[in-house]
Amino acid sequence: MKREWWHNLVAYQIYPKSFMDSNGDGIGDLRGIISRLDYLQDLGVDLIWLSPVYSSPFMDQGYDISDYYGIAEEFGSMEDFDELLSEVKKRNMYLIMDLVINHCSTEHEWFKKAVSDPYGPYADYFYFRKAVDGREPSNLRSYFGGNVWELVPGQSDLYYLHMYTPGQPDLNWGNDELRQKLYDMVNWWLDKGIDGFRVDAIMDICKDTSFPTYYEPDGPDGLRFCKVLTEGPGIGPMLDDLRDSCIRPHNAITVGECFGLSGGELEEFIGDNGHFSTIFDFTAHSLIHKHKCWAEVPEFDFNSWRDAIISGQHESMDFGFRANVIENHDEPRGASRYLPTWAQNDAGIKMLGTIHMLLRGIPFIYQGQEIGMQNMPFGDIDEYNDPNTHMEYDLALLEGYSKEEAFQSCLRFSRDNARTPMQWNNSTNSGFTTGTPWLPVNPNYTNINVELENQNPASILNYYKKLIALRKDPALAEALVYGSFQEEYLEEENVFAFRRVSPHLEVLVITNWNRDCVEIPLSNRDSNGTILLTNCLDQNSCHLSDGVITLHPLDAIVLSIKRP
Ligand code: NOJ
Ligand code: CA
Repeated sequence: MKREWWHNLVAYQIYPKSFMDSNGDGIGDLRGIISRLDYLQDLGVDLIWLSPVYSSPFMDQGYDISDYYGIAEEFGSMEDFDELLSEVKKRNMYLIMDLVINHCSTEHEWFKKAVSDPYGPYADYFYFRKAVDGREPSNLRSYFGGNVWELVPGQSDLYYLHMYTPGQPDLNWGNDELRQKLYDMVNWWLDKGIDGFRVDAIMDICKDTSFPTYYEPDGPDGLRFCKVLTEGPGIGPMLDDLRDSCIRPHNAITVGECFGLSGGELEEFIGDNGHFSTIFDFTAHSLIHKHKCWAEVPEFDFNSWRDAIISGQHESMDFGFRANVIENHDEPRGASRYLPTWAQNDAGIKMLGTIHMLLRGIPFIYQGQEIGMQNMPFGDIDEYNDPNTHMEYDLALLEGYSKEEAFQSCLRFSRDNARTPMQWNNSTNSGFTTGTPWLPVNPNYTNINVELENQNPASILNYYKKLIALRKDPALAEALVYGSFQEEYLEEENVFAFRRVSPHLEVLVITNWNRDCVEIPLSNRDSNGTILLTNCLDQNSCHLSDGVITLHPLDAIVLSIKRP
């Protein structure tokens, strides 16, 4: 594998609307982010991914862009953005933006021009199709529910395609003029000095443009999940063209949002000559996709989760890196999702963080993860802003679940769980805003917040700083960045252990998910290892003696072992 400038980075995702509000309107903004850059530097992260900050009517929280060259008024101005970029650079950090080019917004001027001349050149920037038998051209369900076809405003027999909300018309990548405009825009941002992009919904750009009229339904709504439209071949050359026209000439990083790739395809995506620098590893998150709806998803199961992580690790080992996430703005909080209820406490959250940060791949921390933020206890379905949550609620009802069961499933999986405001301190609204926050603050902010945790040496925040420092320690990089991944102690029930192996150094991570102590026998070599880090507060808790290591419930231990 060729070594790249971004291989050893620790990334941090900012969801701008909920990070820090500087002007009291209840909405996070760029000046708010600037005011917290020292915090991020102190934390030790060095790459920031900004979820979309472009002009947008916010039908899907900025993933519906009305001007790719503009900053959303709510977030500030282009001058603010330039200042943010230069302040990031001053701190020797990198900044990547979100690149949302599968779709734009119905408020984008291209769409408006298409609507005013539905058979003219701009209509071909989108997928405009005639009605079939007086109705939608096919029975596909959008990601957020309902038919993917919506009437073009002012028309009675012409539809446009939207795989996401009706406010997000899909862009026709078969139109050369449009594609060139997208490339120009990507190059404009890279020329400005940003370091790359997280690439949104990119697997959807290549569609079956024969647009079959009927699909066998896969749900009680008579529709079929629209993903079937983009499962065919042909995306590779499209992605390479984007890479060669924009990304490579700038030596930029791209992080693809790619679901559903099979192991065999991965090398094409993230090998030395891959379509992207890296892509997220969603193996564990995707476990829920086997189920018809959120309400059907069983309780957290340690073994399936561990198996998913291990198989995700092995899939890319020989040729590239994936990006590791526990949570993001589309997923519930990891602290609430990937730990059994009894373990959702400081020790458990640190244990989970230890695994996440030390796996092979680029770690991405989502805002608030580093202080142990948890799912939001919403009181009612109407309190959710996210369209996806409402779709899942309705779907659960259609599948025969009660209102209470449907609501409970939203409490577990809603995207809004991770979108509540960042918890900075225990003043009103967690120090996020002096106004009314756009989404309520989690009431646990009085106990879980940055200021409090900064003062407590045993906090989750201070533990994350140590984990990040390990990850960034040049003496450990051969193992922690480039070392291979090897699972260990699979035979031990409820133990997740792995080794990162490099020619001269190994790092062994052992975590105990049992409610009881476990005694793990160590080889001679391992028992001469040095403890690099542990989450044990009690000195007598996690200890090594006579070739046996004793781990109390929720202990995590990290050992470094020299190889002869
Ligand atoms: C993935 C984004 O992360 C999500 O928030 C958004 O709704 C869809 N793509 C559509 O852009
Ligand atoms: Ca604001």
